[in-house]
Amino acid sequence: MDRSAPLPPLDPLAAAQTRAAAPLPSDAAGLQAATQELCAWAEAAAHAAEDETALRAARDAWLGRKGGVLARLKQNWLAAAPPPRKRDAGQAYNTVAQAAESALAAAANELAGRSAARRLADERVDISLPARRAPFGPAHPVLAILRRMTDIFLRLGYSVAEGPEIETAYYNFEALNIPAHHPARASQDTLYMDAGPGAPELLLRTHTSPVQIRAMRQAAPPLRVIAPGKVYRNDAPDATHSPMFHQLEGLAVDEHITLRDLKGALDHFAQEMFGAGGAGERNVRTRFRPSYFPFTEPSAEMDVGCLFCRGAGCRACKQSGWIEVLGCGMVHPALFRAVGYDPERWTGFAFGMGVERIAMLAYGVDDIQRFYSGDLRFLSQFPD
Ligand code: PHE
Repeated sequence: MDRSAPLPPLDPLAAAQTRAAAPLPSDAAGLQAATQELCAWAEAAAHAAEDETALRAARDAWLGRKGGVLARLKQNWLAAAPPPRKRDAGQAYNTVAQAAESALAAAANELAGRSAARRLADERVDISLPARRAPFGPAHPVLAILRRMTDIFLRLGYSVAEGPEIETAYYNFEALNIPAHHPARASQDTLYMDAGPGAPELLLRTHTSPVQIRAMRQAAPPLRVIAPGKVYRNDAPDATHSPMFHQLEGLAVDEHITLRDLKGALDHFAQEMFGAGGAGERNVRTRFRPSYFPFTEPSAEMDVGCLFCRGAGCRACKQSGWIEVLGCGMVHPALFRAVGYDPERWTGFAFGMGVERIAMLAYGVDDIQRFYSGDLRFLSQFPD
């Protein structure tokens, strides 16, 4: 082992400070050796700085005006040198100062480059990752049923008519033979809007029947239309009521239309909706019970044989074996007069049903509120 070889100093800064505190080496060879060592230590100190803080500390230790290695060298070598040695001392000092400055600058550069590279790596976006798919949901069960109902009537030659949800009292009531103080107005209470003095009375429509009037005013008979849409009533929400729900209206006007046509069309609808086309049996029983609506005469309600107990009696049908599904009747002549159709020549039938109610029967849902819950666990169970 060569004991004369100098061991590298453990702390280049401490070594440099010690050397700088010592006086100018006494001869040229000593000065050259000290200069080389100081250059190497400056290099080592700059290189050892792992981050900005450590580098700043190294800069201060080497370049600091007070007590920095260079400041001390200036004092102990330059200022203290006797005149004949000033020149050598100055050259040695400049060599060390240049080495220290360039080593520290190089280290600063390298650190800046490294942090930029780290930021780039951190912020890297992997464009090869597959995108997260947005789930493509099925139609809302009410909409899905409404489409099935609509399709049945489209196949029978009906077309779709529309009307506004904000309706005038005239279309919602008067034109439908419901005068101002008729009790049917109280049973179909809704929200009224103040449209200002002299403006027609506006309300949220309570049924889709006003579209009957709009459709007849727009076209001459014969006519077959259905009108699906939202309706509103002042009902507290419970298992069978909602202040907003959907109806599907139907209207057929032609020469010689009779009650048999009404029964035939609606019985066909029941078979398609709950029978052959659906999950139920081929033959769904229907019955028509006398009822009352101001805009039809005679009026009826159609029941279907209970889909849950097949007529034996259960909770859904209140032990009756029958479930009410819609209101209907022959168009009252007052409506024809209101739209300018000749009531002596034209006859027709109309019907209206709750879409949610049909959906509840078709899907076996026991609470209408579930449709409006926004709960995807419920809503995504149904076929489109
Ligand atoms: N409009 C009635 C209701 O909302 C239903 C109906 C429509 C009845 C057409 C007869 C004819 O209850």
